[in-house]
This record gives sequence, structure tokens and C-alpha cells, in this order.
Amino acid sequence: MRLTEQAHSELDKIVHAGDFVIDATLGNGYDTQFLAQKVGQDGGVYAFDIQKESIEQGTRLLEKQQLVSRVVFTQSCHSKMLEHVPVAMLGKIKAVIFNLGYLPGGDKKFITKPNSTLSALRQAQLCLSDDGIISLIAYRGHDGGQREFAEIEKLTKKENWSVQKKPSNQAPDSPVLFLIGKAYNGAEGSTSNS
Ligand SMILES: C[S@@+](CC[C@H](N)C(=O)[O-])C[C@H]1O[C@@H](n2cnc3c(N)ncnc32)[C@H](O)[C@@H]1O
Repeated sequence: MRLTEQAHSELDKIVHAGDFVIDATLGNGYDTQFLAQKVGQDGGVYAFDIQKESIEQGTRLLEKQQLVSRVVFTQSCHSKMLEHVPVAMLGKIKAVIFNLGYLPGGDKKFITKPNSTLSALRQAQLCLSDDGIISLIAYRGHDGGQREFAEIEKLTKKENWSVQKKPSNQAPDSPVLFLIGKAYNGAEGSTSNS
């Protein structure tokens, strides 16, 4: 199973009708489409991307699927997440999905970077409900990918977040799926940083 499918299968267990979730890297909109189906008409998806083209492409896809009314699209860096997610939603978001790197076939100048990724991850933790989850795929094969991956690992250890890591294979440059639980001020989270 591809890592994107694994991520969806994990989210499938957690996200239900009426939930609110965040897609931190909209891209072509496939993750948002999956989430919009899951949350149903009473839930919603906050979707972020820095690229205008992604916002347009994602909007078109969701319109085609008649799911667009469930999504709030924001063209912004995900490190500004807390400026855009309503305060009333803090602590109520069931899942945040990150699919890092750049859009395959797209403009490689729009690539995720360690500083903004780490900031967005911290903000995602504040958004998350007690039973919520962050799903993040980090790619290690491109320039800067190894560093971004290492910085994420370092952050999860420093913050003592509960983490499961699922590499797609043993190759050192293969992508890795992180499943990160809600932080409990570093006190209660059971850590499986393996
Ligand atoms: C691998 S793609 C995401 C694929 C997407 N989830 C999908 O289902 O098609 C990564 C996306 O992250 C976006 N991106 C890069 N840096 C970003 C940032 N700082 N904030 C938000 N989005 C960013 C890129 O523009 C690109 O569209």
C-alpha cells in the first residue's frame, strides 16, 4: 500500500461525519477530497496551500465532486494556520494532514521548508482534539528532504509527542509516514518514538 493510502486508512478510522479537519498542504486536492467525503455535510475541512494554482485546482476538483461547500480554502503558508482556523475550533479538530515536499509535476519553488513545517506542526497540536491525530508524510529523496525529516523527528522527541513512524521501505531516502497524537503538555502522552 502506498503511504498516501496508509495515511487515508489511518484517518478513515478516526474521522467521522460532523468532524472538522485540516489539510495543511492542499496540492491537487486529493487529501481534501477524501476528508470532505468523510466529514459529511455537517463537518468541514480547512485547506491551506501557498500556491494559487493549488487553490484553483482543489476548488475545481471539489466542485466537480459537489463537496466544495464543506471546504474553506486558504491561500497561505500553513505556519499561519492559527490566523485562519476559527478560535472556536481550537482543541476540536479531529485530524490534520500534511503531505510535504512539492507538487509532483508542479513548480518546485513551492516546496515545504523545515521552519514553517515545524511552526505549522506546533499549531496543528493546538488545533487537535484529545482523540485527534496528525498524519504527515515526509519525503527524503529531494534536496532538503532529509533535513526537513530530521527536524520533524527532533521536534517530536523534544516535545515528547506520541508518534508512530511508518517508512515505506528500508531505503534511507524513502518517504516516511508520521502519525502523531495529541500532546498533553508533555505529561501523559505515551511515546513510541520508534
Ligand atoms: C506533495 S503536495 C500535496 C499533495 C496534496 N495533499 C494532494 O492531495 O494532492 C505539497 C503541497 O504543499 C504546498 N506547500 C509548500 N509549502 C507550503 C507551505 N509553507 N504552506 C502551505 N502549503 C505549502 C505546495 O504548494 C504543494 O501544493
